[in-house]
Amino acid sequence: MTPDVRVLGPGDVEALGAEMARAVEAGDMRASSDPDGAFIHKLIAADPGQFGGAFAGRELVGLISPEVKIAIVRPDRRRQGIGRALVELGLEMERQRDRSNLLLGALPDEAIAHAFLASCGFSFHSVVYDLDLPPDRAVVAPTWPAGLVARSFDRERDVESWVALFNTAFADHPTPLQLSPAFIARGLADPDFVDADTILVEEEGTAELIGFCATDVQRRDGVHGTSAELWSIGVRPDRQGQGLGRQLVRAGVERVRALGIADAHLSVNARNASALGLYEDEGFVRSRTRERYARPVSPATETDR
Ligand SMILES: CC(C)(COP(=O)(O)OP(=O)(O)OC[C@H]1O[C@@H](n2cnc3c(N)ncnc32)[C@H](O)[C@@H]1OP(=O)(O)O)[C@@H](O)C(=O)NCCC(=O)NCCS
Repeated sequence: MTPDVRVLGPGDVEALGAEMARAVEAGDMRASSDPDGAFIHKLIAADPGQFGGAFAGRELVGLISPEVKIAIVRPDRRRQGIGRALVELGLEMERQRDRSNLLLGALPDEAIAHAFLASCGFSFHSVVYDLDLPPDRAVVAPTWPAGLVARSFDRERDVESWVALFNTAFADHPTPLQLSPAFIARGLADPDFVDADTILVEEEGTAELIGFCATDVQRRDGVHGTSAELWSIGVRPDRQGQGLGRQLVRAGVERVRALGIADAHLSVNARNASALGLYEDEGFVRSRTRERYARPVSPATETDR
């Protein structure tokens, strides 16, 4: 029987959250771009359309998220063709937004995931490294070239220009990542979102944004936890290669440590060799390896659109 699959909507948020909590607990998310499930609950609330689901009757029994790079089928429903059907849905989701590949993650030792990905026509794309900064590693304070100043993100005036800078900086990234002002606006509704966790660098006097470092500090009811991720660092393409990235890494670490958080970590795709080299040079040490597999998305025909 062909499973019933569709893109999810606001009415699916509860079932999606419950299945995701199960998957995080079971370790099914370890290969994804959100291994600990820190970001995913925000994404579910903000934009359930980023997820596809498989249903048995009204029951959600499987998920795919091209954004988080994971396909998951509930253990009692595996080996019934549901994963394969979710891949077809994921390909369609990526085609609709003009992505050239559907990317999914696996850990090097996950034999079932590898068998599944090979069977569904995926081939190896890249490796993502998770890197930790040892708590006792000294990191130099940032210094900015003449004419540039660093300041905190300010939700009142920076959303549009920061999203534009983010998308420009990530346009040629090995695994595409694009934000929308609507997504950020929804994130800002979270009372635990703190503007100062994101550092912006701008041209003095012009308010022209040049670079940023966004840290993801886990908080509950305003109280932060014990580790934080430098989740995104970007420099405007025409200012890349001038040492700003290094200063932004230092600024992010400075922010995290100023909060009293000892453990700073980040992830980087190995195809992004210059960024990997920079992070290691600043003292970050590889802790985990995740793999990315890709299946090309055939372009939409006129009748698909
Ligand atoms: C990987 C996973 C999504 C597969 O879902 P599924 O619904 O069981 O997969 P399907 O039934 O559609 O299987 C498709 C093909 O994958 C391969 N496959 C799936 N499970 C397999 C297993 N346990 N052993 C060997 N091959 C397997 C087979 O070739 C299968 O085709 P076949 O049944 O005709 O032989 C599921 O096992 C799961 O949720 N695992 C945990 C999450 C995870 O590791 N995801 C990684 C992929 S992103």
